[in-house]
Amino acid sequence: MGLLVGKALPHQYRFIYSRAKFPALVSGLGAGKTEALIYRTLKFLTEIKGAKIGIYEPTVDLIKRILYPRFEDIFATSGIKFKLNKSDGVMQVWMPNTGLCEIIFRSMENPARIIGYETHHSLLDEIDTIATDKATDVWGRVIARNRKKFYVYDPQNPKQRKKGVNTIGITTTPEGFKFVYKTWAKKHLNDPNYELIKGRTRDNHHLPDDYIPAMREFYPPQLIDAYLNGKFVNMKGRTVYSGFDRHKNYTSATLDDYPESTPLLIGMDFNVGRMGAVVGVKTSDPEAGIRQLRIVDEFFKLEDTPAMIAAIRSRYPNRTIVVYPDASGRSRKSVDASKSDIALLRQAGFRINAPKKNPPVRERVVSTNTMFLNSDNVRNLLVNTDKCPNLTEAVEKQIYDDNGIPVKDGDEDINDALGYLTNRVFGLARPTTVIGRMRVA
Ligand SMILES: Nc1ncnc2c1ncn2[C@@H]1O[C@H](COP(=O)(O)OP(=O)(O)OP(=O)(O)O)[C@@H](O)[C@H]1O
Ligand SMILES: [Mg+2]
Repeated sequence: MGLLVGKALPHQYRFIYSRAKFPALVSGLGAGKTEALIYRTLKFLTEIKGAKIGIYEPTVDLIKRILYPRFEDIFATSGIKFKLNKSDGVMQVWMPNTGLCEIIFRSMENPARIIGYETHHSLLDEIDTIATDKATDVWGRVIARNRKKFYVYDPQNPKQRKKGVNTIGITTTPEGFKFVYKTWAKKHLNDPNYELIKGRTRDNHHLPDDYIPAMREFYPPQLIDAYLNGKFVNMKGRTVYSGFDRHKNYTSATLDDYPESTPLLIGMDFNVGRMGAVVGVKTSDPEAGIRQLRIVDEFFKLEDTPAMIAAIRSRYPNRTIVVYPDASGRSRKSVDASKSDIALLRQAGFRINAPKKNPPVRERVVSTNTMFLNSDNVRNLLVNTDKCPNLTEAVEKQIYDDNGIPVKDGDEDINDALGYLTNRVFGLARPTTVIGRMRVA
């Protein structure tokens, strides 16, 4: 244990040893937040007789994939006996000096299970990835559980035992002006009980060298401050596709510039009366490092899937067509009760390229925006704005709401059509932890 904490990074060290009642470590992706949470847990296990520590993650999956193996590994290598009961979410640990301790694992997905136990201390990982109301509810429930009495040795007064303070520590990436911002940076800014500790991704020298460059390429500049530097960034009212510039992302390319054998890649969103589609052509020149998607045409506000099929057929009678549709169109039947939208497209002779399930909305829009402009100032997604006036306008207009979700009030479906296409074509390889985060957001 001493050995482990000895290796802690400065921001981790401050969090592990914080004496505040509510310390918060807010840092970038991969800055070592979860590791710090684990170390702080180990510190309590060595200090408190029969310690009971509650640990909370946004999802059960994160507990299983990240925490269980990490704790099992630590105890097994240190020769400490432990027993994990996965169905109860409890790990018993026989500590050399403090006896039988328990770590109680709970997910924030299911606040109703935050009941029926008492802890000395609690630790919450990534609370900002859940909605503010839900985070507030979880926080209240955790406070209610965190009341087990204990005493600490007081060097000033060695004969008398001193009552210990129950603490709740949080480690999170900032996700806009949500629960953590509201609580630590606003409401309790000058309250010594609430300590805010910041850390940056680049402070973690244990990460692979290519981690930060990969992040920079993936995230748009306005999110980099949050995701690498741990800064709170407000999303509300911001333009979703802030990277798009109708002049800089302009291409004059039309289909006439490509041979008839070039397949047309069509992104499509299904909405009765508001069907939208965009037509793209992939351009890649590996030697010149070019990997572009050019949007050369659009279909806007068509009635239904058969109308869309007819329109595509008449505009491009001799082309190979690959459709990248909204994946929910596999089961959705907007016209013919016996055939799904995707089945109708297939029947019309189009090739279909769709995942089983759509990626999370946030992932789709963030990656589309990054293709408009990445942190290295490269624009890989170009639009012929003369041919696509509706797409151009929708992309310029769409903004985020209070919860960081893109506002939809009618004309934005075509942006979704673009997102289905770009996400599939560029098949962005994303770090898995980020996928987890996006899923809960
Ligand atoms: N003090 C340390 N000593 C050695 N390795 C560390 C230390 N702190 C973190 N690491 C390693 O750095 C990587 C990232 O750490 P960790 O998963 O804790 O970061 P995180 O901030 O929780 O990341 P994410 O944002 O993805 O949740 C892990 O491989 C972890 O083992
Ligand atoms: Mg983590």
